[in-house]
Amino acid sequence: MSLVSAAMQRIKPSATIAISNKARVLKAEGRDIIALSAGEPDFETPDNVKEAAIKAIRDGQTRYTAVDGIPELKAAIVAKFKRENGLTYKPSQITVGTGGKQVLFNALLATVDPGDEVIIPAPYWVSYPDIVNFAGGTPVAVETTLEDNFKLRPAALEAAITPKTKWLIFNSPSNPSGAAYSHDELKALTDVLVKYPHVWILTDDMYEHLVYDDFQFVTPAQVEPSLYDRTLTMNGVSKAYCMTGWRIGYAGGPEELIKAMGTLQSQSTSNPSSIAQWAAVEALNGPQDFIAENNKSFKERRDLVVSMLNQASGLTCPKPEGAFYVYPSCAGVIGKKTASGKVITDDEVFATELLDAEGVAVVHGSAFGLGPAFRISYATATKDLEEACLRIQRFCGSLR
Ligand SMILES: Cc1ncc(COP(=O)(O)O)c(C=O)c1O
Repeated sequence: MSLVSAAMQRIKPSATIAISNKARVLKAEGRDIIALSAGEPDFETPDNVKEAAIKAIRDGQTRYTAVDGIPELKAAIVAKFKRENGLTYKPSQITVGTGGKQVLFNALLATVDPGDEVIIPAPYWVSYPDIVNFAGGTPVAVETTLEDNFKLRPAALEAAITPKTKWLIFNSPSNPSGAAYSHDELKALTDVLVKYPHVWILTDDMYEHLVYDDFQFVTPAQVEPSLYDRTLTMNGVSKAYCMTGWRIGYAGGPEELIKAMGTLQSQSTSNPSSIAQWAAVEALNGPQDFIAENNKSFKERRDLVVSMLNQASGLTCPKPEGAFYVYPSCAGVIGKKTASGKVITDDEVFATELLDAEGVAVVHGSAFGLGPAFRISYATATKDLEEACLRIQRFCGSLR
């Protein structure tokens, strides 16, 4: 009899975490490694946020709190949704978890039964299908194309909907492609969803603030208010506020769903860290101008990386609207051989050989459900990015 449960056998470790760990080990061994694999900003958490956390400790905010968030944080989230997304939620429609990941986990575990299908546009964030699998549901990946800049077409969405569809997971800007949907592009999708009242929408807006070139972010319930009653709008402070380690994510949605998610959390982790919650109150209510400052750097880095990768032989890299990722296709190097005679049969071999030969860690596209491609996180110092892109150019140029 197996020790681990059947549910555990349906999931695997996160590929992005595995590759980041491998890069860390090689670095510790003294190798010259540039890791472009991690999904976190390289900027510091703002000082006012750190001070709010220190104050919370001094004020004795060190006890259990309400399971799904302190009233002050829920109020800050209600105000954020109103201010930035034009969405009206009551505090009873808000839930706070230990990172956006727990919020997603709660939502799917609380709603997905065996046989339920969850539509996930590919390339997708690695955790979506695994969480659906863990819940006993069936992930239905819908592939997008490089030509469509990795955006889901309305007809492809409609073709994937069946009577068993429970959720569409929507993520804009996207991890891993950086693709973000304009108002019109999103409206074309919500027009389809309006026709299928049994389908719920889980929108992962984690990268909302990380958009460039005057791109206007929009979220499904804002674009199509009639979807409000079946949409869970999820977000968090990890990326825009440079708070990945603090572990605060949140969502707004229908009360019945929010209540079920809180019940699940009450039987697992209980409340997110009391101190991190107070820090998140300051992040959401405090000054926001540092985001535009950070975005200036991100945009410059995106432009640098896209331009340098497009000069690498066999790579094609679209310029995405947001997040801090690019997702170049490596179709042009498949079938070629490295200097040591190894054939690049797929994107995983490409990533492994690139790490071996040049010490650059990237994540293969097949981990995100769409290859041959790879993901680069450009949330790294510009000089390292430049060096990494030169190494990638050299590696691609060496393939025969
Ligand atoms: C698309 C997306 N959603 C959710 C998360 C989870 O964020 P958190 O660190 O708050 O759990 C991430 C983090 O990488 C992400 O990329």
